[in-house]
Formats: sequence, structure tokens, C-alpha cells
Amino acid sequence: MSIPVMRPWLGEEEAAAAAAAVASGWVTQGPRVAEFERAFAASIGAGHGVAVSSCTAALHLAMLAADIGPGDEVVVPSLSFIATANAVRYVGARPVFADVDASSLNLTPETVEPALTDRTRAVILVDQCGVPADLDAMRKLCDPRGIAIVEDAACAAGARYRGRPVGASADVAAFSFHPRKLLTTGEGGMIVTPDGEFAIRLRRLREHGMDVSAAQRHASRQPVIERYLETGYNYRMTDIQAAVGLVQLGKLPALVARRRELAARYQRLLAKIPGVRMITDPEYGRTNFQSFWMLLPQDAPVGRNELLRLLAAEGISARRGIMAAHSEPAYTHEGPWSLPVTERITADSLILPLFHDLSLAEQDTVIDVLAGALTAAGRHIEASR
Ligand SMILES: Cc1ncc(COP(=O)(O)O)c(C=O)c1O
Repeated sequence: MSIPVMRPWLGEEEAAAAAAAVASGWVTQGPRVAEFERAFAASIGAGHGVAVSSCTAALHLAMLAADIGPGDEVVVPSLSFIATANAVRYVGARPVFADVDASSLNLTPETVEPALTDRTRAVILVDQCGVPADLDAMRKLCDPRGIAIVEDAACAAGARYRGRPVGASADVAAFSFHPRKLLTTGEGGMIVTPDGEFAIRLRRLREHGMDVSAAQRHASRQPVIERYLETGYNYRMTDIQAAVGLVQLGKLPALVARRRELAARYQRLLAKIPGVRMITDPEYGRTNFQSFWMLLPQDAPVGRNELLRLLAAEGISARRGIMAAHSEPAYTHEGPWSLPVTERITADSLILPLFHDLSLAEQDTVIDVLAGALTAAGRHIEASR
């Protein structure tokens, strides 16, 4: 048996949509990208959607459009995929690492406040593993100080914050459509914002700083001489990706519902292992369970890496928990940082297989290996399933 950590839920419909885009002859950013932007923004209740080639590109553009640059500091969690911190470096600013809350794994006002200086221009608020961060609480800290909040919602499509989709109330939120996320376009990202001017700047920056898009030029009956207003990038999404994204967007509610069912089953059965902690909904929102993390007790009979080896020996592909950017060679020359929660989580947590068509038998196999390794009562869990 081989159980991957994630398998995207892609099928005939996505294949047909991609084929139709190819057959249309318009394969780069065009009408399907525009349609996907409108549909994604509408599904969230956000004013504008700007599709890009990845969430990393989205975060880079968000930093540029917020005019963050050399001399500025941006507070980020170290406990995140390294793209969060890298986006700050791309614009010549300095990422300042703050610790996270031990339950949500997200930044909170309490963890961010000690990291603020008079150079702090923004906070990148990550919704780690799809658990919504408390944006309103962070606003209370940041708004009076004129500090921008960029929500890194890479993992959070389909998650909810205070009764609305994540991104609905953000000034700027960046999503990822990498296949480790619920909704995938292969590679891809989307920025949502209520601010029309900000969206115009983002669109320009993603397409070489041009004042008119290739699609607009193509549609015009008059010759259009474009101007390049600033240094931009090629961060376009293709129409082939957007065609797949439109189909996936329709499946998002089902994707979330299935993950929540499977996650509830993990929560129920793994709770019988003494001392184990797991991802859970915060009191103000609902996660999409983009990744199901589990934290081992400090006195666990096996360490995290040994547990990963035991799982791999049974054909189960789990992952170490979320990385900590501050301990990677690209960042170790900075600091020192005091991030005790981050260090404990990154050392002792792992991410379990969770995907739409994970069968209950496959899930049982994962649970059995964990229970067998972590407790003598493994059989008890099996009996009470
Ligand atoms: C929190 C976070 N931010 C940013 C990214 C980067 O996303 P992408 O792969 O779409 O560039 C990821 C990807 O895993 C992520 O988890």
C-alpha cells in the first residue's frame, strides 16, 4: 500500500476544460483568467481578484504595491513556508521573525508586538494550514500604528473567518493554487483586495509594468501603443490554468466538507493517544484542514523523525511539521531570535496524509501505525473505532 500525503482531486472535467483552452488558441493570460478572477473574488465576497503565477509572486507584488522597500521591516512568522519571509527580501526589506500561538500556529498581537520597531511597515499574517488568523485582533495592534497587514492565505481557500470566507475582510490576501492546497491549478496564485487602485497596480506589476494588457490590446480595433510605467514582472497565470481553476472552484465546498469529515475522524481517534495535540478550529473561525498537523508529547516513546520512518516503512508518506525559516541557512546569519513555540512545533510535529479520496481503510492504516508506535494502547483505539 502507498498512501501519499496529498493527492489533488482532479478529473475529466479539469482535463476537458484545459483542452478547451488549448483548442481556443488563447493559452496565456486571457478571457479565462479574467473569468477565474471574477469567480474567485465573488466566491469570497472580495472586490477584486488578481490572478498570478504563484502565491510567492502574489506576496512579492503585495510588498511592491504597498511600497515596502530597503530600510523597512516586515514582521513574519518563522513558522511558515520560506516563501513568506523571502517575499520581504525580494523588495530589499528585512523580515523580522515573531513567534506563533501554540494552538493556531498563527501570529497574534501578543507575539507581534515585541517585534515592532519604528521601521515596521507591515505584518504578513499567515493562515497556517488553513487555520484563519485573527485579523481583527491584529488590526487593533497595527491600524493605530499605520502598519499594513498582508494576509498570506496560501493555504486558506475555503476556510472561514468570523462567518465569512478568509480574504473577505482583508485589505490584501494572497492565495496559492499549488497542488498541496485544496484548489489547484498546477501552479498559480490569486490576490484579493477591496481596493480598485491597488488592483490596477497589481495587474500592471504582474505584466511588465504595461499600462494595457495583452488581452486588451488584442481586443482593440485600433492599434494600441503600450507604455511601461514602472519595472514589472512576468507573473501571469495562463488561460489553461484558469480553466482548471474554474472547475476546481466549483468543487471547493465539497473538498472542504470531505476534509473536515476526515479530519474529525483523525481528531476523534488520535485523541486517544495520551499527550498528542492536533490542528483544530479556532473559536472565531473554521479551518479547511489544508494540512492536518499533530504534535507529539515531549515524552513520546519515539521521536518525530523516527515516527516518519516508521510510517514510510508502511508506505505512508507523512511530512515533518511546518518549517521554521529562521533556522534555514538562508536566514541563520540573522537574529538571534527567541521563538520557543516555533522551535517546539517545528521539531516535534508531523503532517498526516489527508486528501479528498483518502479511504477510511487508508486512514485506519495511518492511525494504526501512529497508535502502535506511540502507545501500548494501540489495540484499544482499533477496538473503539
Ligand atoms: C504559507 C505559505 N505562503 C506561501 C506559499 C507559496 O505558495 P506558492 O507555492 O503558490 O508560491 C506557501 C506554499 O506552500 C505557503 O504555505
